[in-house]
Amino acid sequence: MTFHILISDPLSEEGIYPLRQANGVNIVIETTLTPEQLEDRIDGFDALLVRSQTQVTRELIEKASNLKIIGRAGVGVDNIDLEAATEHGIIVVNAPDGNTNSAAEHTMAMMMSMARKIPQAFHALRNQQWDRKSYVGVELKNKTLGVVGFGRIGQEVAARAKGQRMNIIAYDPFLTAEKAEKLGVDFGSVEDVLKVADFVTVHTPLLKDTKHLINKEAFEIMKDGVQIINCARGGIIDENALFDAVKSGKVAGAALDVFEQEPMVDFRLLDLPEIIATPHLGASTFEAQESVAVDVSMDVVSYFTTGTVRNS
Ligand code: NAD
Ligand code: MLT
Repeated sequence: MTFHILISDPLSEEGIYPLRQANGVNIVIETTLTPEQLEDRIDGFDALLVRSQTQVTRELIEKASNLKIIGRAGVGVDNIDLEAATEHGIIVVNAPDGNTNSAAEHTMAMMMSMARKIPQAFHALRNQQWDRKSYVGVELKNKTLGVVGFGRIGQEVAARAKGQRMNIIAYDPFLTAEKAEKLGVDFGSVEDVLKVADFVTVHTPLLKDTKHLINKEAFEIMKDGVQIINCARGGIIDENALFDAVKSGKVAGAALDVFEQEPMVDFRLLDLPEIIATPHLGASTFEAQESVAVDVSMDVVSYFTTGTVRNS
């Protein structure tokens, strides 16, 4: 029997080595299909491997009469209709920790670049302007970093920020006083965090109750001159409210890796000189891409050979 696997987003070639090694596996890599072409192509495949680009919609799942397992090479499964997958008995696996380090490092890189206005200064220099007055930054030392969402990445960011001698205050519904003490951070409600933080970084999934968690009202309770980082999911921050908060001077800087719509179509936020951005690069390191692809490939091989997976 042959197990047919479709890979519809670019995955690390080293990462799919476990699939290449397995017997009885047919791997098809097609990473430029439109949603309509994918719907026409999917029937007959037993497994579908994606990153965040492919939208695994109910319509797609309904066309996939043989599909048994969907592997998401990354953390967020918000591009997969989990309800439809469950209804059709399809297992969804992700790679929960393969890109944690990369995303935490990217968050720190964004915070430090924002605090010292490095992208803006580089842009000016490239335009042959030797301007030392416009790019005076702020130090991180002794500032308070508010971490909203204290899971894998939030905790890694906090550990690194402590190395920068920042004070950390975190909010997570699962964070207890004992755990916060053990990790050497303060903790409070989301309002407590937003009120005292000089920098706010969000690390929650995008869920009904985290959509626009950082909205007009949230900006109002923050300190004047606060700086914001989002390397988690577009939509956790209300982009219209962010635009207004930056325009009014309430927010002194924002560093964004993720957007409400991706690929980005509305570039209005980037007209504001206080905002720096990257195109969803948090997990884009060779190490992370190999690691997440290995994790989901091993799950698919395990499902194919034993009928079970690690994290279904
Ligand atoms: P995780 O599951 O380990 O942590 C998420 C945490 O958010 C959990 O501790 C959870 O309790 C908490 N949470 C849930 N609802 C909350 C709420 N209402 N308020 C506060 N906290 C809440 O996930 P992770 O691996 O740390 O990933 C965090 C986010 O980063 C996810 O959205 C993930 O998709 C994203 N991510 C982005 C990139 C990127 O390329 N930019 C890379 C990796 C992960
Ligand atoms: C994730 O959720 O893992 C990230 O968004 C990284 C990716 O693009 O896969």
